[in-house]
Amino acid sequence: METQEMINTMPRIGDQAPDFEAVTTKGKIKFSDYAKDKWVVLFSHPADFTPVCTTEMSGFAVRKPEFDALNTELMGLSIDSVHAHLGWVNNVRNNTGVYFDFPIIADIDMKVSKLYGMLQPNESETAAVRAVFFIDPSKKIRLIMYYPLNVGRNMDEILRVLDALQTSDKHKVAMPLDWKRGEKVIIPPPKTLQEMENRLADTSCEKVDFYLCKKSLNLN
Ligand code: BEZ
Repeated sequence: METQEMINTMPRIGDQAPDFEAVTTKGKIKFSDYAKDKWVVLFSHPADFTPVCTTEMSGFAVRKPEFDALNTELMGLSIDSVHAHLGWVNNVRNNTGVYFDFPIIADIDMKVSKLYGMLQPNESETAAVRAVFFIDPSKKIRLIMYYPLNVGRNMDEILRVLDALQTSDKHKVAMPLDWKRGEKVIIPPPKTLQEMENRLADTSCEKVDFYLCKKSLNLN
């Protein structure tokens, strides 16, 4: 695929996640059949047996229980063989005790990396950048992160935005700057004059003005 064509076909927020079949460390997976009724965090790393990637993959593995609690499956990817993946998983386990117990795609033909815009040729022609796709249970892409080869991602931020997306969906609210679980959320602004008058008269929310009102959620 030419560079411009790859950019034009990169999936965007709101798109259906492109379907694929791939060899992974947990066997062959057809994405559309995977993790039914669950969220998926699909992420790429540049290469096995490299230092930043090892810290990131270990971060995903150590914090997997937090993804489980958010009804979310993890799926990694790099342009390496499944043999390299297995060797790396075993090496990290032997060195640190951390086990990567989630599928890692062996994208040796770059099919999935190209499909998801993870191969960004001006950064690297042979290694995927550090991408994270947040995909909801209807297999719609809801948020995308891209990091370059030399900067690792932030696991707190990855979990924060996943929680924010799910909380926003469930309570039909929006999340302000730096929102974290337990903090106030933004009530959707009025769309009519009547709604504006109602909001101005509403004393139950924390109001800056009619278009910026916050409330606490009952998370029970
Ligand atoms: C790393 O994970 O350390 C790394 C991988 C590819 C290029 C640069 C750094």
